[in-house]
Amino acid sequence: SLPDDLGGLKVLVTAGGTREPLDPVRYISNRSSGKMGYALAAAAIQRGAVVTLVSAPTSLDPPAGVELVSVETARQMYEAVMERFSTQDVVIKAAAVADYRPKIVAGQKIKKTGETLILELEINPDILYELGQRKEPHQTLVGFAAETEDLEANALQKLRKKNLDLLVANDVTQPGAGFGTDTNIVKLFYRDGRVQSLPVMDKKTLAHRILDAVVELRSQTHS
Ligand code: C5P
Repeated sequence: SLPDDLGGLKVLVTAGGTREPLDPVRYISNRSSGKMGYALAAAAIQRGAVVTLVSAPTSLDPPAGVELVSVETARQMYEAVMERFSTQDVVIKAAAVADYRPKIVAGQKIKKTGETLILELEINPDILYELGQRKEPHQTLVGFAAETEDLEANALQKLRKKNLDLLVANDVTQPGAGFGTDTNIVKLFYRDGRVQSLPVMDKKTLAHRILDAVVELRSQTHS
C-alpha cells in the first residue's frame, strides 16, 4: 500500500499544452498530452494530498478527487495558478506553456489572401519564474524542462533562474521520452547540486518517484 506521506498537504499541478488563439477557429499549441501532469495529480491524491489540477486542454479524464481548473491559454493558466499559489505547499509545473501568443487575435476567421502570411507573436508570462520569485520557505517548487540539446546546462540554468527546488529534465529527442509517450526518461536536478539519472519508466511510476523526491526535500528543510 502507498504511504500517506503527503497527507494534509496542498499540491497544485499544472498539465497539458496551452492553446493560444489566432482567430475564432484556430490556435497555436504543442504536442503535450497532459499524461505526466495527470499522473502526478493521481499519485498525489493516492498519497493523501489535497490536489488542484490546473489543466490546459487534454483528452484525459481528471483523476477522481482532484479539484479541476480548466484553462486554455498561458495567461489564463497564469491567473489560475497565481490566485491559488499562496495557499499551496507544493506546486508542480508539468504543463507545456506557450512561450509566445499571437499579438492580434482576429475577430473573424483569417482569410486566405497572399502566398505568405506573417504572424506576429508576443511573449507570455513565465508562470514558473513568477512563482519562484514569490515562493515562501515552506513551499516546494518543481519544474519540468523539455530539451532537445544541452540538457544539463539548460536544466541547471533553469533551476537557478526560476528558483526551483527540483527540476525534472527530459531529452525529448530520445525514443520513449517526452511528449505523447506513456514512458519518460528524465534526470532530476536538485537545488543542492545533486543530479539523479532515472531509467526509462512509465509516467505513473515516474510520478511517484518525483513525489518521493518532494517528500525527501521537505523532510530535510522542514524537520
Ligand atoms: O523555460 P522552459 O519553458 O523550458 O521551462 C519549463 C518549465 O517552466 C515548465 O515547468 C513549464 O511548465 C514552466 N513554464 C511556465 N510558464 C511559461 C513557460 C514555461 O510556467 N511561460
